[in-house]
Amino acid sequence: MKPSEPTLTAVAKELKKIPSDALVIGVGKGQDGPVLLDSPLPAKAARALGDSLQVLGVTGAADDVRRLAALPDTGSESLVLVGVGPVTPGTAVPAETLRRAAGAAVRQLKGLETVVLALPAPGVADATAVAEGAALGAYAYDGYRSGLGADGRPAPRKDDGPVRTILVHTAAAQDGAQDAALTAGLARAAVLAKNVNATRTLVNQPPSHLYPESFAQAARDLAKGLPVKVTVMDEKKLERDGYGGILGVGKGSSRPPRLVKVEYAPAKSKVHLALVGKGITFDSGGLSLKPAASMQTMKLDMAGAAVVLNTVLAVAELGLAAKVTAWLCLAENMPSGTAQRPEDVLTTYGGRTVEVLNTDAEGRLVLADGLAAASEEHPDAIIDIATLTGAQMIALGNRTSGVMGDDGVRDAVKAAADRAGESFWPMPLPEELRPSLDSQVADIANIGERFGGMMTAAVFLREFVGSTDGEKIPWAHLDIAGPAFNEGSPYGYTPKAGTGVGVRTLLAYVEDVLGRAS
Ligand code: BES
Ligand code: MN
Ligand code: ZN
Repeated sequence: MKPSEPTLTAVAKELKKIPSDALVIGVGKGQDGPVLLDSPLPAKAARALGDSLQVLGVTGAADDVRRLAALPDTGSESLVLVGVGPVTPGTAVPAETLRRAAGAAVRQLKGLETVVLALPAPGVADATAVAEGAALGAYAYDGYRSGLGADGRPAPRKDDGPVRTILVHTAAAQDGAQDAALTAGLARAAVLAKNVNATRTLVNQPPSHLYPESFAQAARDLAKGLPVKVTVMDEKKLERDGYGGILGVGKGSSRPPRLVKVEYAPAKSKVHLALVGKGITFDSGGLSLKPAASMQTMKLDMAGAAVVLNTVLAVAELGLAAKVTAWLCLAENMPSGTAQRPEDVLTTYGGRTVEVLNTDAEGRLVLADGLAAASEEHPDAIIDIATLTGAQMIALGNRTSGVMGDDGVRDAVKAAADRAGESFWPMPLPEELRPSLDSQVADIANIGERFGGMMTAAVFLREFVGSTDGEKIPWAHLDIAGPAFNEGSPYGYTPKAGTGVGVRTLLAYVEDVLGRAS
């Protein structure tokens, strides 16, 4: 079930010539109360509206959306005021603020068909940010609601689907003569949003329906029509080739693991990047069973794999000149008579052994195989992304992801995240954590120092990154445990549940690497 994405169009016409269901205008939170932001409204109307904000009780706080009667001389059925949060007079509204405001408005206007966003977006970059936020806000997960009422008969459906047609009002669109940069920016925004939204939907799939085999099939389905090659390795192939990490984690489940390789290799590629994603379709903890409350939301544990899949698909659809290979490490972590035990030793891909002291530290085991396999192709850099540790949430909270690794890649990821509008923060890889992972019986143990557990996990992963001509392949690890899934209320363009975090950063990273290579 693939929901269709909204269309994004830039317009510069007079408002009265643009028919729509809603016209969205921004309100900022100024020093002395709410301020109406720049808009194409006729000056008189804008002044009257600005003067009445206070009486209307509009504050300009982010996510505050008010729907009012239409203003005369606009082609819209209604007027919508969206708060953008604090603004500094005389300075441009930052891109991420525009994204969030557009997202908040579109998200809260579900059920409408056509929405005009008249936020202060004079330039191409601003207009593109508005388009991105709007398309990200136009998301809905339908799930598996039957549509049947309590009486077992079809219940009348309320029409609250996402906005279908998004018109971005911007001076950058000179009526018809849109410049190439704007057209390209909108096209990129559409591809980006489609792939972020597809990531969200995969994360939101219940584990009854999404398991390694069905995830692999979803990868094939999503890749249809794109110039990418999808290779699915089943449990027999994994056994033959020695993928002991993925197999060990998958052993307890009746639904066998998979390793999926998704390659985009354009003829003119200048760089090769490998992306490795943790794809635990459900993390019960295994025999080191999680308490019931911690198990809830553990369908999210495949978010990293969904991110790397959709990043390659976005790169392919945009036709970027980078070779990108994604490795989806898919397994279901379950307790059973066939499950791996604490104290088991497994042999990861390439031959290194791991003592499994806690079966709930399973992400690093599947990633060990993925990192080793990715290394064999000697890419220019490897980035892995995973909902790896609860410690990430302790350290950085629910909205900021951690990035660790070699200085160069780590800093490049941080810079890409800033440009993309995602919150990542660099964390160190303290050397003193390594001895805590020493094992009496194997090369390394899968758990170590608990304090700074996000970094301990990263220090473990580092061991499985290979070399090219004696030099370690540049690598970074992204821990998105908290940010991958929004357990709270929606905000900005971020819905409840799966957020799709990581796709925008990784796409921006690929673009940045290409920019530096040319
Ligand atoms: N999937 C979890 C991490 C997680 C926790 C993600 C909460 C999102 C929200 C991971 O597999 C896990 O269980 N990690 C353990 C590691 C520990 C046993 C060293 C953890 O963080 O408790
Ligand atoms: Mn776990
Ligand atoms: Zn996990």
